[in-house]
Amino acid sequence: MQINVESSPAEKYSADALAIVCFESEEKPTAEAPAVSSAASSDPELVAQSGWLADLRQTGEFTGKLYETAVLHRPEGISAKRLVAIGGGKREKFSSVEARRIGGALVRFLKPKGFRSIALLIDTPNGDEYVSAAVEGAVLGGWEPDTYKSDPKAKEKQVDAFTVMVPGIPDEALKAGAERGRIIGEAQNLTRDLVNEPANKLTPAGLAEAAKKMAGDLGLECEVLDQEAMAKLGMGALLGVAQGSSNPPFLISIKYRPSETGGKDHLALVGKGVTFDTGGISIKPSEGMEKMKYDMAGAAAVIGAMRAIAQLKPSISVTGYVPTVENMVNGNAQRPGDIVTTLSGKTVEVLNTDAEGRLILADALTYANRNGATHIVDAATLTGAIAIALGHYNVGAFTNSEEFLQRFLKIAKAAGEKTWPLPMDEEYKEYLKSAFADLPNIGGRYGGSITAAWFLREFADPTPWIHLDIAGTAWLDDGKAWMSKGPTGVTVRSFVNLAMDWTALQTG
Ligand code: BES
Ligand code: ZN
Ligand code: ZN
Repeated sequence: MQINVESSPAEKYSADALAIVCFESEEKPTAEAPAVSSAASSDPELVAQSGWLADLRQTGEFTGKLYETAVLHRPEGISAKRLVAIGGGKREKFSSVEARRIGGALVRFLKPKGFRSIALLIDTPNGDEYVSAAVEGAVLGGWEPDTYKSDPKAKEKQVDAFTVMVPGIPDEALKAGAERGRIIGEAQNLTRDLVNEPANKLTPAGLAEAAKKMAGDLGLECEVLDQEAMAKLGMGALLGVAQGSSNPPFLISIKYRPSETGGKDHLALVGKGVTFDTGGISIKPSEGMEKMKYDMAGAAAVIGAMRAIAQLKPSISVTGYVPTVENMVNGNAQRPGDIVTTLSGKTVEVLNTDAEGRLILADALTYANRNGATHIVDAATLTGAIAIALGHYNVGAFTNSEEFLQRFLKIAKAAGEKTWPLPMDEEYKEYLKSAFADLPNIGGRYGGSITAAWFLREFADPTPWIHLDIAGTAWLDDGKAWMSKGPTGVTVRSFVNLAMDWTALQTG
């Protein structure tokens, strides 16, 4: 999708559709400090059309509710073929979250109708923030899980150009905002493409290839450890999970180094990369098992984030670590009761082979620590229990450093990725007791997401670390107005903005 930033007058701009945002319960859109431009805000010609809107409001056909739409054909005095009103909800509640979703909703509303070029009129009292969010939303809205659909007609229907119309001459900050939105949107779409791949098409070797390709294209270094190399190092926990599959495991490291490092900080992003999770011998029920292809959503988020980081160039060293395996059940599969020795030297009794994510992450976290991480954030579709606790709307967050978590939560909130902290009291650690090894890989029946986090913490300590459980948020079962069903790309935005936060810290 081509992205443009153009200056007004919007009425002279040729596109299949010119969209304006209209807010709820406002008879006529007003000109006072609008967040996103409504019909009257900047273009007198557009005001002429507001009679159309007033009519629609009067009949109740259009109320300005979020993402609601109305289309005017052949609008007088306007070069675009259609004038589209899109609901902005309550003006006072409008933020970059809504701007992002409006970008997506517009694309998703107009795409099936064959519209190929869309212009959105935006006022920019918030500088580049809304421009960036709307562009990002448009890029995200254009994505479909249709890689394996063969109907070419359906594929033809895509939006080729998305233009943000701003009043006056767009300055460098606005252009940079649009570019940032495109980069972060495309990074999430890469993540979504990877997550959407079925497990027969994307094995651990395939994930390693995808990481290498991305790194090669963007000039990042990528190192891939194979089974033999991991055995030499002593990654018994990761290899134990992998031994039940004929598809061999890998540990991928993707390295970004800034041209001038401001300090000695080194951020490690670690992602669970189970390309398919049958549960192993502790096998999962067959109903819904097909969804377990998304058990590598954490890994894909790391790969997507590294792509954006390579383009946005924060001033901190960032390494993405992706342990990747397939959790299968051949004759060599790991058994309940097996005891494995992790890279850290700690032994683990595998009481349940379905709690495999924490086993591969344990070795990856130790590896990240040994390679100089000063801050670690991992993302993993780790527990079904997190969706019981938080539903599908919040990522669950766990930490060993309250200070690091508070900083991260602010960043995630600004990125529009809802994230909620869960407790890590020492008492929960008591649930993790093994009579035969240093640790079991599961706690009891209670606090499943917390015991999983405590297990990881054993390998992350003492480095400041945040664990993000994305089992409830990485996959959308039903499409939304602004986003298709399927992978969400969650945590890419938070990861990228966290890395960029170091730049902000240094430049004050
Ligand atoms: N990949 C699953 C977690 C999961 C569940 C992700 C549902 C997405 C949707 C993970 O490997 C797993 O199986 N966890 C077990 C842990 C249990 C055995 C302690 C779970 O959540 O049931
Ligand atoms: Zn599992
Ligand atoms: Zn899993």
